[in-house]
Amino acid sequence: MIYARVAGTGSYLPGEPVTNDDLVARGIDTSDEWIAERTGIRARHLAAPDVTASQLAYEASVRAIEAAGCQPSDIDLIIVATSTPDYIFPSTATLLQARLGITNGGAAFDLQAVCTGFAYALATAEKFIRSGSNKRALVVGAEVFSRILDWNDRGTCVLFGDGAGAVVLEASDKPGILATALHADGSHNPILCVPGQINRGSVTGDPFLRMDGQAVFKFAVRVLSEVAREVTAQAGVPLDAVDWLIPHQANIRIMQATGRRLGVPMEKVIATVAQHGNTSAASIPLALDHAVRDGRVQRGQRLLLEGVGGGFTWGAVLLEF
Ligand code: ACO
Repeated sequence: MIYARVAGTGSYLPGEPVTNDDLVARGIDTSDEWIAERTGIRARHLAAPDVTASQLAYEASVRAIEAAGCQPSDIDLIIVATSTPDYIFPSTATLLQARLGITNGGAAFDLQAVCTGFAYALATAEKFIRSGSNKRALVVGAEVFSRILDWNDRGTCVLFGDGAGAVVLEASDKPGILATALHADGSHNPILCVPGQINRGSVTGDPFLRMDGQAVFKFAVRVLSEVAREVTAQAGVPLDAVDWLIPHQANIRIMQATGRRLGVPMEKVIATVAQHGNTSAASIPLALDHAVRDGRVQRGQRLLLEGVGGGFTWGAVLLEF
């Protein structure tokens, strides 16, 4: 039996933290109290204007490859989950492959499932490895969400940040990923979307993120609870045998409400949203890497990674670390 096992994790945040008070100082009509009370966010990182998703992906990937104890040339599959790619094409994954100096001809592609992107990418890489077609995958979530924020819309611009997280997933005779579940329901796409674009300076539609916050909140809590139950039932692992719940980091209140529904105490939930804000596809691997590096996540523990995002999409991955 071939399993897919996480061999190493890495992450990267650009620049210095930008606090809620820094946003007020920049002229946004908000307050630390309002943001922290409603979302748990205290700070986020924002990439400099010339920094792209592939650069953030590169920094996170170098750390993950080092942690995995392998070389870039050992990677035969790259999947980058992003909604803020460097270009329409070439893909961010192929740009990352070139930056890493990988010339072995392994496959590389981007995957777009917004904040569920990393769960989709990890589940996809697992299928490639379990089929025997690939041996070692680099799975990355990388975002420069600051580029698609309307800085005049205080209801959304305070929520997001930039960053990247990566894992090396390799073939192993020991588990590994135990179960995955991916879902989408396109009928909900209007409640969180970027309904336009900028092309060579001309704007078509509305190129910034728009959100119905309350509708997103209710939807997120429901599907995160459902998919956590689904993936644990699939693996025959009771929820209380999961060591860490690592949800998409959108809002601490979504995580608390999901934890309450599942009967998972907050002591078992990895939460980095206070320091990172919502980094979309990067948020789960960023949280995972932080918890690995601060010693909370240990080898042999069971982790439940889950996300929800625009589309709407949602999904979960249960794994033994
Ligand atoms: N600072 C101060 N006041 C603000 C701000 C702000 N940044 N933003 C909005 N307000 C004001 C509004 O203008 C409104 O004022 P009014 O009552 O005078 O009209 C008041 O605060 C309440 O606004 P609401 O939008 O109703 O605030 P709500 O309590 O719903 O909180 C929030 C908004 C935090 C976005 C909430 O709906 C939420 O957490 N939703 C979840 C959405 C989320 O996390 N999205 C992340 C992306 S989706 C994902 O990753 C899955």
